[in-house]
Amino acid sequence: MNVIVCKNYDEMSACAAEILAAQIKEKPNCVLGLATGSTPEGMYANLVAKNKSGEISFADVTSVNLDEYYPLEPTNEQSYRYFMNYHLFDHVNIDKAKTFVPNGLAADPAKEGQDYDAMIDSLGGIDLQVLGIGRNGHIGFNEPDSYLIPGTHVTDLTPSTIAANARFFDSEESVPKKALTMGIGTILSARKIILMVSGADKKAAVMKLLEGNITTECPATFLNVHKNVTLIVTEDAIDR
Ligand code: GLP
Repeated sequence: MNVIVCKNYDEMSACAAEILAAQIKEKPNCVLGLATGSTPEGMYANLVAKNKSGEISFADVTSVNLDEYYPLEPTNEQSYRYFMNYHLFDHVNIDKAKTFVPNGLAADPAKEGQDYDAMIDSLGGIDLQVLGIGRNGHIGFNEPDSYLIPGTHVTDLTPSTIAANARFFDSEESVPKKALTMGIGTILSARKIILMVSGADKKAAVMKLLEGNITTECPATFLNVHKNVTLIVTEDAIDR
């Protein structure tokens, strides 16, 4: 795993944006796998600036997002579709018809998961996947468990994830209890992966990942089997 240690959140955001910009320049019609959460917000702000200055164009880019709460309507301000529009899609020259987020209102979520993976396959796969990490080592919404599911699927959120994400909602009770998420296999099928991590509260998960052991109790450790992962981490989230 390549590891880039950054002084702070702004440096991490700029570094990740540089990697995405390089991907878009190298392959203007690339497929980007995108993530939500507070971690990538600064990266999106950098990408918006690069688009406005003419450095990069999203005209031919396709995006596929990692996950979405279930059930939750896309117009809900806490939905990941809303997040993506708010932080990126509404401010860059991307064709919204080529931006995909799992459908939080799917009548048949199991089928939605299968269709989502088939759609990613039909696009030719993901060129570059952006990830954040949960404090418990989850990626997307693949929570620690005794087993992990390869494909995109509906999953229960753990109490700790519901509590961590409650800060975005009116109350803990209003956080959806389920989500649709790319599975570990979907994520690992991306050709390149960048994992962004910021803050001392993520250090335990980062150190578990860097130990190199693979365990379903820390889903991020599965990134150790991928050949092209770059960890972009702030210095307070890693022991050296
Ligand atoms: C959510 C998302 C993850 C994200 C994680 C960390 O649960 N499903 O994709 O990585 O939270 O979020 P944050 O960046 O806000 O700490």
